[in-house]
Amino acid sequence: MAIVGATGAVGIEMIRTLERRNFPVGTLTLLASARSVGKKLAFRGREIAVTELTQDSFAGIDIALFSAGGSISRDFAPAAVRAGAVVVDNSSFFRMDPSVPLVVPEINPEDVKAHTGIIANPNCTTAITLMALYPLHQAFGVKRIFASSYQAVSGTGAKALEELEKQVGQIVRGEPVTREVYPHQIAFNVLPHVDSFLPTGYTKEEMKMENEGRKIMHLPAFKASVTCVRVPVYRSHSIAVSAEFERPVSLEAAREALAKAPGLDIVDDPANKAYPQPLHTSERDNCAVGRLRLDCALENGLAFWVSGDQLLKGAALNAVQIAEELLR
Ligand SMILES: NC(=O)c1ccc[n+]([C@@H]2O[C@H](COP(=O)([O-])OP(=O)(O)OC[C@H]3O[C@@H](n4cnc5c(N)ncnc54)[C@H](OP(=O)(O)O)[C@@H]3O)[C@@H](O)[C@H]2O)c1
Repeated sequence: MAIVGATGAVGIEMIRTLERRNFPVGTLTLLASARSVGKKLAFRGREIAVTELTQDSFAGIDIALFSAGGSISRDFAPAAVRAGAVVVDNSSFFRMDPSVPLVVPEINPEDVKAHTGIIANPNCTTAITLMALYPLHQAFGVKRIFASSYQAVSGTGAKALEELEKQVGQIVRGEPVTREVYPHQIAFNVLPHVDSFLPTGYTKEEMKMENEGRKIMHLPAFKASVTCVRVPVYRSHSIAVSAEFERPVSLEAAREALAKAPGLDIVDDPANKAYPQPLHTSERDNCAVGRLRLDCALENGLAFWVSGDQLLKGAALNAVQIAEELLR
Protein backbone atom coordinates (compact mmCIF):
# COMPACT_ATOMS: atom_id res chain seq x y z
CA MET A 1 0.00 0.00 0.00
CA ALA A 2 1.21 3.54 -0.71
CA ILE A 3 0.10 6.96 0.51
CA VAL A 4 0.96 9.87 -1.77
CA GLY A 5 0.96 13.09 0.27
CA ALA A 6 1.61 11.16 3.48
CA THR A 7 2.90 14.23 5.34
CA GLY A 8 -0.20 16.36 4.65
CA ALA A 9 -3.27 17.00 6.79
CA VAL A 10 -5.17 14.20 5.01
CA GLY A 11 -2.15 11.87 4.56
CA ILE A 12 -1.51 11.75 8.31
CA GLU A 13 -5.16 10.84 8.88
CA MET A 14 -4.90 8.12 6.23
CA ILE A 15 -2.03 6.50 8.14
CA ARG A 16 -4.02 6.69 11.40
CA THR A 17 -7.19 5.40 9.75
CA LEU A 18 -5.44 2.36 8.20
CA GLU A 19 -4.05 1.58 11.64
CA ARG A 20 -7.28 2.19 13.54
CA ARG A 21 -9.40 0.10 11.18
CA ASN A 22 -6.82 -2.68 11.11
CA PHE A 23 -6.60 -2.56 7.33
CA PRO A 24 -4.55 -5.52 6.06
CA VAL A 25 -1.41 -3.64 5.02
CA GLY A 26 1.70 -5.68 4.12
CA THR A 27 4.20 -2.90 3.44
CA LEU A 28 3.30 0.78 3.74
CA THR A 29 5.16 3.18 1.42
CA LEU A 30 4.93 6.84 2.41
CA LEU A 31 5.49 9.33 -0.41
CA ALA A 32 5.72 13.11 -0.42
CA SER A 33 7.82 15.85 -1.99
CA ALA A 34 11.63 16.08 -1.83
CA ARG A 35 11.12 18.51 1.10
CA SER A 36 9.95 15.65 3.31
CA VAL A 37 12.67 13.13 2.56
CA GLY A 38 14.20 12.14 5.88
CA LYS A 39 10.98 12.63 7.86
CA LYS A 40 9.69 9.56 9.66
CA LEU A 41 6.05 8.78 10.45
CA ALA A 42 4.78 6.13 12.86
CA PHE A 43 2.61 3.23 11.69
CA ARG A 44 1.74 0.29 13.96
CA GLY A 45 4.49 1.11 16.41
CA ARG A 46 7.34 1.55 13.97
CA GLU A 47 8.82 4.49 12.13
CA ILE A 48 8.58 4.60 8.33
CA ALA A 49 10.85 6.94 6.37
CA VAL A 50 9.09 9.19 3.85
CA THR A 51 10.45 8.85 0.32
CA GLU A 52 10.21 11.19 -2.65
CA LEU A 53 7.37 10.61 -5.09
CA THR A 54 8.63 9.68 -8.57
CA GLN A 55 7.19 7.91 -11.60
CA ASP A 56 8.93 4.74 -10.34
CA SER A 57 7.46 4.78 -6.83
CA PHE A 58 4.73 2.20 -7.45
CA ALA A 59 6.41 -1.14 -8.21
CA GLY A 60 4.74 -3.82 -6.07
CA ILE A 61 1.98 -1.49 -4.81
CA ASP A 62 -1.59 -2.89 -4.84
CA ILE A 63 -3.49 0.18 -3.60
CA ALA A 64 -2.28 3.79 -3.71
CA LEU A 65 -4.15 6.45 -1.73
CA PHE A 66 -3.43 9.83 -3.38
CA SER A 67 -3.76 13.03 -1.39
CA ALA A 68 -1.28 15.58 -2.70
CA GLY A 69 -3.46 17.83 -4.90
CA GLY A 70 -4.91 17.60 -8.39
CA SER A 71 -1.74 18.20 -10.41
CA ILE A 72 0.13 15.44 -8.56
CA SER A 73 -2.79 13.06 -9.20
CA ARG A 74 -2.82 14.06 -12.88
CA ASP A 75 0.94 13.51 -13.23
CA PHE A 76 1.43 10.38 -11.10
CA ALA A 77 -1.84 8.39 -10.85
CA PRO A 78 -1.40 6.98 -14.40
CA ALA A 79 2.09 5.70 -13.42
CA ALA A 80 0.59 3.98 -10.38
CA VAL A 81 -2.10 2.34 -12.54
CA ARG A 82 0.51 1.23 -15.12
CA ALA A 83 2.46 -0.40 -12.29
CA GLY A 84 -0.65 -2.43 -11.38
CA ALA A 85 -2.01 -0.42 -8.44
CA VAL A 86 -5.59 0.72 -7.91
CA VAL A 87 -5.60 4.44 -7.11
CA VAL A 88 -8.05 5.97 -4.63
CA ASP A 89 -7.72 9.68 -5.40
CA ASN A 90 -8.63 12.36 -2.93
CA SER A 91 -8.14 15.32 -5.29
CA SER A 92 -10.82 16.78 -7.55
CA PHE A 93 -8.87 15.92 -10.72
CA PHE A 94 -10.66 12.70 -11.80
CA ARG A 95 -13.99 13.11 -9.97
CA MET A 96 -16.16 14.07 -12.93
CA ASP A 97 -14.39 11.77 -15.42
CA PRO A 98 -17.17 9.42 -16.63
CA SER A 99 -14.76 6.45 -16.57
CA VAL A 100 -13.87 7.04 -12.89
CA PRO A 101 -16.30 5.97 -10.14
CA LEU A 102 -16.96 8.62 -7.46
CA VAL A 103 -17.88 6.79 -4.30
CA VAL A 104 -19.28 7.28 -0.81
CA PRO A 105 -19.39 3.67 0.46
CA GLU A 106 -22.59 4.25 2.48
CA ILE A 107 -24.33 5.44 -0.73
CA ASN A 108 -22.97 3.86 -3.94
CA PRO A 109 -20.50 1.11 -2.94
CA GLU A 110 -21.39 -0.97 -6.00
CA ASP A 111 -19.86 1.72 -8.27
CA VAL A 112 -16.39 0.66 -7.04
CA LYS A 113 -16.65 -2.45 -9.23
CA ALA A 114 -16.73 -0.38 -12.43
CA HIS A 115 -13.25 1.09 -11.88
CA THR A 116 -10.52 0.85 -14.49
CA GLY A 117 -7.66 1.68 -12.14
CA ILE A 118 -8.79 4.93 -10.48
CA ILE A 119 -11.60 5.57 -7.98
CA ALA A 120 -12.30 9.13 -6.83
CA ASN A 121 -13.06 10.29 -3.32
CA PRO A 122 -15.65 13.11 -3.26
CA ASN A 123 -15.36 16.70 -2.14
CA CYS A 124 -15.47 16.87 1.66
CA THR A 125 -18.47 19.22 1.98
CA THR A 126 -20.42 17.15 -0.53
CA ALA A 127 -19.67 13.84 1.21
CA ILE A 128 -20.71 15.15 4.63
CA THR A 129 -23.93 16.72 3.27
CA LEU A 130 -24.87 13.53 1.39
CA MET A 131 -24.44 11.42 4.54
CA ALA A 132 -27.66 13.08 5.79
CA LEU A 133 -29.29 13.99 2.47
CA TYR A 134 -29.12 10.56 0.83
CA PRO A 135 -31.23 8.68 3.44
CA LEU A 136 -33.78 11.50 3.19
CA HIS A 137 -33.68 11.19 -0.60
CA GLN A 138 -34.41 7.47 -0.30
CA ALA A 139 -37.45 8.28 1.85
CA PHE A 140 -38.86 11.32 0.02
CA GLY A 141 -36.98 11.82 -3.32
CA VAL A 142 -34.84 14.97 -3.28
CA LYS A 143 -35.36 17.63 -5.99
CA ARG A 144 -33.06 20.45 -4.92
CA ILE A 145 -31.26 21.97 -1.96
CA PHE A 146 -30.21 25.41 -0.80
CA ALA A 147 -27.22 25.25 1.52
CA SER A 148 -24.46 27.20 3.26
CA SER A 149 -21.29 25.56 4.51
CA TYR A 150 -19.15 26.44 7.53
CA GLN A 151 -15.79 24.97 6.52
CA ALA A 152 -12.86 24.37 8.86
CA VAL A 153 -9.37 25.65 8.03
CA SER A 154 -7.86 22.14 8.04
CA GLY A 155 -9.86 21.67 4.84
CA THR A 156 -7.26 23.91 3.20
CA GLY A 157 -4.37 21.79 4.53
CA ALA A 158 -1.71 21.83 7.21
CA LYS A 159 -0.47 25.37 6.43
CA ALA A 160 -3.91 26.90 6.98
CA LEU A 161 -4.14 25.37 10.46
CA GLU A 162 -0.83 27.09 11.32
CA GLU A 163 -2.13 30.38 9.86
CA LEU A 164 -5.22 30.42 12.10
CA GLU A 165 -3.18 29.58 15.19
CA LYS A 166 -0.58 32.24 14.37
CA GLN A 167 -3.18 34.95 13.71
CA VAL A 168 -5.01 34.22 16.98
CA GLY A 169 -1.67 34.64 18.81
CA GLN A 170 -0.89 37.87 16.94
CA ILE A 171 -4.31 39.35 17.74
CA VAL A 172 -4.15 38.36 21.42
CA ARG A 173 -0.68 39.94 21.70
CA GLY A 174 -1.82 43.11 19.86
CA GLU A 175 0.61 42.50 16.96
CA PRO A 176 -0.12 43.15 13.26
CA VAL A 177 -1.80 40.19 11.58
CA THR A 178 0.16 38.44 8.82
CA ARG A 179 -1.31 36.09 6.23
CA GLU A 180 -0.11 33.72 3.51
CA VAL A 181 -2.80 31.14 2.85
CA TYR A 182 -6.11 33.03 2.77
CA PRO A 183 -6.79 36.31 0.92
CA HIS A 184 -7.97 37.91 4.20
CA GLN A 185 -7.55 37.43 7.95
CA ILE A 186 -9.32 34.19 8.96
CA ALA A 187 -9.02 34.54 12.76
CA PHE A 188 -12.21 36.11 14.21
CA ASN A 189 -13.59 36.42 10.67
CA VAL A 190 -15.56 34.41 8.10
CA LEU A 191 -14.77 34.32 4.37
CA PRO A 192 -17.54 33.59 1.84
CA HIS A 193 -14.87 32.32 -0.51
CA VAL A 194 -13.75 28.68 -0.85
CA ASP A 195 -11.89 27.75 -4.07
CA SER A 196 -11.86 29.96 -7.17
CA PHE A 197 -14.75 31.97 -8.63
CA LEU A 198 -16.51 30.91 -11.84
CA PRO A 199 -18.08 33.32 -14.40
CA THR A 200 -21.51 32.54 -12.86
CA GLY A 201 -20.43 34.02 -9.52
CA TYR A 202 -20.48 30.64 -7.76
CA THR A 203 -17.14 29.11 -6.71
CA LYS A 204 -15.84 25.77 -7.96
CA GLU A 205 -16.32 24.37 -4.45
CA GLU A 206 -19.98 25.45 -4.45
CA MET A 207 -20.72 23.65 -7.73
CA LYS A 208 -19.16 20.38 -6.50
CA MET A 209 -22.30 19.76 -4.42
CA GLU A 210 -24.54 19.67 -7.51
CA ASN A 211 -22.11 17.98 -9.90
CA GLU A 212 -20.71 15.35 -7.52
CA GLY A 213 -24.10 14.92 -5.79
CA ARG A 214 -25.68 13.97 -9.15
CA LYS A 215 -22.96 11.41 -9.87
CA ILE A 216 -22.89 9.81 -6.39
CA MET A 217 -26.68 9.63 -5.96
CA HIS A 218 -27.23 8.67 -9.65
CA LEU A 219 -29.62 11.61 -9.82
CA PRO A 220 -28.95 13.76 -12.91
CA ALA A 221 -31.77 16.23 -12.15
CA PHE A 222 -30.49 17.09 -8.63
CA LYS A 223 -29.97 20.84 -8.13
CA ALA A 224 -27.95 22.58 -5.43
CA SER A 225 -27.48 26.29 -4.78
CA VAL A 226 -24.66 26.58 -2.26
CA THR A 227 -22.63 29.30 -0.53
CA CYS A 228 -19.35 27.93 0.84
CA VAL A 229 -17.90 29.81 3.78
CA ARG A 230 -14.54 29.38 5.52
CA VAL A 231 -14.82 29.80 9.30
CA PRO A 232 -12.12 29.97 12.01
CA VAL A 233 -12.72 26.39 13.14
CA TYR A 234 -9.80 23.97 13.22
CA ARG A 235 -11.56 20.82 12.16
CA SER A 236 -14.99 19.52 10.96
CA HIS A 237 -17.20 21.13 8.37
CA SER A 238 -20.87 21.96 9.03
CA ILE A 239 -23.59 22.56 6.47
CA ALA A 240 -27.00 24.24 6.89
CA VAL A 241 -29.33 22.65 4.33
CA SER A 242 -32.88 23.36 3.14
CA ALA A 243 -33.97 20.46 0.96
CA GLU A 244 -37.05 20.16 -1.24
CA PHE A 245 -38.47 16.71 -1.95
CA GLU A 246 -40.87 15.09 -4.44
CA ARG A 247 -43.05 13.60 -1.71
CA PRO A 248 -44.51 15.06 1.51
CA VAL A 249 -42.11 15.05 4.45
CA SER A 250 -42.88 14.42 8.09
CA LEU A 251 -40.42 14.90 10.93
CA GLU A 252 -41.19 11.44 12.22
CA ALA A 253 -40.44 9.75 8.89
CA ALA A 254 -37.32 11.89 8.44
CA ARG A 255 -36.01 10.87 11.88
CA GLU A 256 -36.76 7.23 11.10
CA ALA A 257 -34.81 7.42 7.80
CA LEU A 258 -31.85 9.17 9.43
CA ALA A 259 -31.77 6.82 12.43
CA LYS A 260 -31.23 3.85 10.08
CA ALA A 261 -28.46 5.56 8.08
CA PRO A 262 -24.97 4.09 8.55
CA GLY A 263 -22.20 6.46 9.68
CA LEU A 264 -24.65 9.07 10.95
CA ASP A 265 -25.76 10.09 14.46
CA ILE A 266 -28.87 12.14 15.20
CA VAL A 267 -28.11 14.88 17.71
CA ASP A 268 -31.36 16.78 17.84
CA ASP A 269 -32.73 17.91 21.16
CA PRO A 270 -32.92 21.71 20.96
CA ALA A 271 -34.76 21.95 24.30
CA ASN A 272 -31.61 20.60 25.93
CA LYS A 273 -29.30 22.60 23.63
CA ALA A 274 -28.22 19.45 21.81
CA TYR A 275 -27.27 19.86 18.15
CA PRO A 276 -24.24 18.83 16.07
CA GLN A 277 -21.11 20.90 16.64
CA PRO A 278 -17.76 20.69 14.84
CA LEU A 279 -15.97 20.39 18.19
CA HIS A 280 -17.92 17.21 18.89
CA THR A 281 -17.61 15.56 15.46
CA SER A 282 -13.84 16.15 15.21
CA GLU A 283 -11.73 12.99 15.18
CA ARG A 284 -14.91 10.92 14.91
CA ASP A 285 -15.90 8.70 12.02
CA ASN A 286 -19.63 9.41 12.21
CA CYS A 287 -21.23 12.59 10.93
CA ALA A 288 -24.03 14.13 13.02
CA VAL A 289 -27.36 15.64 11.93
CA GLY A 290 -29.74 17.83 13.90
CA ARG A 291 -31.88 21.01 13.93
CA LEU A 292 -34.45 19.03 11.93
CA ARG A 293 -37.51 21.09 11.07
CA LEU A 294 -40.12 21.33 8.33
CA ASP A 295 -38.88 24.09 6.04
CA CYS A 296 -41.28 27.04 6.24
CA ALA A 297 -40.40 28.39 2.78
CA LEU A 298 -40.38 25.23 0.64
CA GLU A 299 -43.03 22.78 -0.47
CA ASN A 300 -42.22 19.30 0.94
CA GLY A 301 -39.16 20.88 2.51
CA LEU A 302 -36.92 19.89 5.40
CA ALA A 303 -34.22 22.06 6.99
CA PHE A 304 -31.32 20.45 8.83
CA TRP A 305 -27.75 20.99 10.03
CA VAL A 306 -25.05 18.39 9.51
CA SER A 307 -21.47 18.35 10.87
CA GLY A 308 -18.67 15.91 10.08
CA ASP A 309 -14.92 15.61 10.27
CA GLN A 310 -13.80 16.56 6.76
CA LEU A 311 -10.37 15.02 7.31
CA LEU A 312 -12.11 11.70 8.06
CA LYS A 313 -15.49 11.23 6.31
CA GLY A 314 -14.56 14.01 3.87
CA ALA A 315 -11.19 12.46 3.03
CA ALA A 316 -9.13 9.76 4.82
CA LEU A 317 -11.92 7.58 6.24
CA ASN A 318 -13.89 7.58 2.98
CA ALA A 319 -10.71 6.65 1.05
CA VAL A 320 -9.93 3.75 3.39
CA GLN A 321 -13.58 2.61 3.21
CA ILE A 322 -13.24 2.55 -0.60
CA ALA A 323 -10.07 0.44 -0.20
CA GLU A 324 -12.07 -1.88 2.07
CA GLU A 325 -14.71 -2.20 -0.67
CA LEU A 326 -11.93 -3.22 -3.08
CA LEU A 327 -11.06 -6.14 -0.82
CA ARG A 328 -14.67 -7.36 -0.58
N1 LIG B 1 -7.83 18.86 3.99
C1 LIG B 1 -9.00 18.33 3.74
O1 LIG B 1 -9.92 18.36 4.58
C2 LIG B 1 -9.28 17.68 2.42
C3 LIG B 1 -10.51 17.05 2.25
C4 LIG B 1 -10.78 16.42 1.03
C5 LIG B 1 -9.85 16.46 0.03
N2 LIG B 1 -8.67 17.10 0.22
C6 LIG B 1 -7.68 17.05 -0.87
O2 LIG B 1 -6.59 16.26 -0.44
C7 LIG B 1 -5.38 16.74 -1.01
C8 LIG B 1 -4.37 17.02 0.09
O3 LIG B 1 -4.90 17.95 1.00
P1 LIG B 1 -4.23 18.29 2.41
O4 LIG B 1 -5.23 19.15 3.08
O5 LIG B 1 -3.73 17.07 3.07
O6 LIG B 1 -2.98 19.21 1.93
P2 LIG B 1 -1.59 19.49 2.71
O7 LIG B 1 -1.75 19.39 4.16
O8 LIG B 1 -1.11 20.77 2.12
O9 LIG B 1 -0.64 18.30 2.22
C9 LIG B 1 -0.20 18.17 0.90
C10 LIG B 1 0.59 16.88 0.73
O10 LIG B 1 0.98 16.77 -0.65
C11 LIG B 1 2.38 16.59 -0.71
N3 LIG B 1 2.97 17.23 -1.90
C12 LIG B 1 2.87 18.52 -2.28
N4 LIG B 1 3.59 18.73 -3.40
C13 LIG B 1 4.14 17.54 -3.73
C14 LIG B 1 5.00 17.09 -4.76
N5 LIG B 1 5.44 17.94 -5.72
N6 LIG B 1 5.38 15.79 -4.79
C15 LIG B 1 4.96 14.94 -3.85
N7 LIG B 1 4.14 15.29 -2.81
C16 LIG B 1 3.74 16.58 -2.77
C17 LIG B 1 2.91 17.29 0.53
O11 LIG B 1 4.22 16.83 0.79
P3 LIG B 1 5.30 17.78 1.55
O12 LIG B 1 4.97 17.72 3.01
O13 LIG B 1 6.58 17.10 1.21
O14 LIG B 1 5.16 19.13 0.96
C18 LIG B 1 1.88 16.84 1.56
O15 LIG B 1 2.14 15.52 1.95
C19 LIG B 1 -5.79 17.91 -1.88
O16 LIG B 1 -6.05 17.45 -3.18
C20 LIG B 1 -7.06 18.38 -1.24
O17 LIG B 1 -7.90 19.09 -2.13
C21 LIG B 1 -8.36 17.70 1.39
